[in-house]
Amino acid sequence: MAESVTRPLAGKTVVLGVCGGIAAYKAAELARLLGKQGADVRAVMTAHATAFIGELTLQTLTGRRVFTDPFQLTQESEIGHIELADAADLIVVAPATANTVARLAAGAADDALASVVLASRAPLLLAPSMNVNMWDSPLTRDNLRRLVDVAGARVVGPGAGFLACRWVGPGRMAEPGDIVEAAARTLSPQDLAGRRVVVTAGPTYEPVDPVRFVGNRSSGKMGYAIAAAAARRGASVHLITGPTSLEPPPGVDVSHVGEAREMRDETTAAAGSADAVVMAAAVADFRPREVQASKLKKRGGDEGAATIEMSENPDILATIGARRSERGDALPILVGFAAETEDVVENARAKLARKRCDLVVGNDVSAVDAGFSVDTNRVVFVTEDGEEARELDEKAGVAHAIVDRLVDGLARAGSDAPHLARRANTRRGDGGGDGDG
Ligand code: PMT
Repeated sequence: MAESVTRPLAGKTVVLGVCGGIAAYKAAELARLLGKQGADVRAVMTAHATAFIGELTLQTLTGRRVFTDPFQLTQESEIGHIELADAADLIVVAPATANTVARLAAGAADDALASVVLASRAPLLLAPSMNVNMWDSPLTRDNLRRLVDVAGARVVGPGAGFLACRWVGPGRMAEPGDIVEAAARTLSPQDLAGRRVVVTAGPTYEPVDPVRFVGNRSSGKMGYAIAAAAARRGASVHLITGPTSLEPPPGVDVSHVGEAREMRDETTAAAGSADAVVMAAAVADFRPREVQASKLKKRGGDEGAATIEMSENPDILATIGARRSERGDALPILVGFAAETEDVVENARAKLARKRCDLVVGNDVSAVDAGFSVDTNRVVFVTEDGEEARELDEKAGVAHAIVDRLVDGLARAGSDAPHLARRANTRRGDGGGDGDG
């Protein structure tokens, strides 16, 4: 998987414009995080910004001289605002104060930052931060709209909350991690723009009694990585997740579920308007037949062993596949996973047919570096046309490879997916919903 897709900021020159607002202190963390993504960060500060954060801080974190004054000959000859404007792959202004937003919207070139922005053809990302009334001002809104409509700027945030000016409301600069994600998205191909993708992730927990459940070792990492990759590439993503300790990726709609039947209800409802459904969740195949109203007690002695009778859970993937085939539900792409401990390709191929998917991602979950909980995975893509075995990769890399498949499949399917529907209808099936996993 090309680094330009998995790490879009790597090797890119990112001009970080810092303005004079209290959130300027967060620019230090932002510079650090951008550098961690492999970007060459070139900080440009307004005069007011230097009152909030020292030049030395940004210089130390970026390893580059900070540009503050295009009118100082020594600085200009060392860096040069045109040179910086030309070198930029992306300009991020964070915090973007009301004053600088107004100057940029007016096309001003009255300081280093405004000069670089005006002279550059690089995409512009603004992270506004200001007093709530300044944010609400029609003048600020008009300035921002102008920057978006006329200059093609993108905006991340602001968030709402308790502001340094003691007002409560919108005006807080977006968190540095969210700004980095917005920057990565700005430099990523938007090949899923306008598409709706539903992703399932994590385990399901099937209750035994008020304190116990039957679950599995899925951490949610694989599904969350797919949701993040699809969102970064422009899709509107609905992540349906079982219990995990992960933070959902920014910009993704999230439904938290517990049991398999809840996941089924959410997923089948969401699938109705989706372009693609990707089922990375480890759905429990069985649930206790009865949920005890109170905590099961140890009985001790010869009667110590407890027996829990199990019922079969619905197979969500097979249900969606069957509806598509039999009712003609308009779902262009259906992707399942196959968690296998042996004969990965054969078992994945059997699931492809039985669950009527377009792609099954087989993974050998007995390998220590693949499958459950770890950060890497080794998968084989199985389709009607053949197999593609992939090398061990970060789950983010696997996720982007799956997104590539979605992009290709959707391009082939066309907007109303007639050929996939037809192909699905010609398959022989068993009605779905049964069989193991
Ligand atoms: O979450 P991680 O720690 O990152 O681990 C990732 C993973 C190992 C969970 C993931 O890569 C994976 O393999 N997910 C599928 C796990 C699974 O349940 O596999 P299966 O072979 O039992 O099921 C096949 C497919 O049917 C899966 O897409 C599954 O979501 C779906 N299924 C299974 C049972 C069921 N009752 N309903 C379903 O929809």
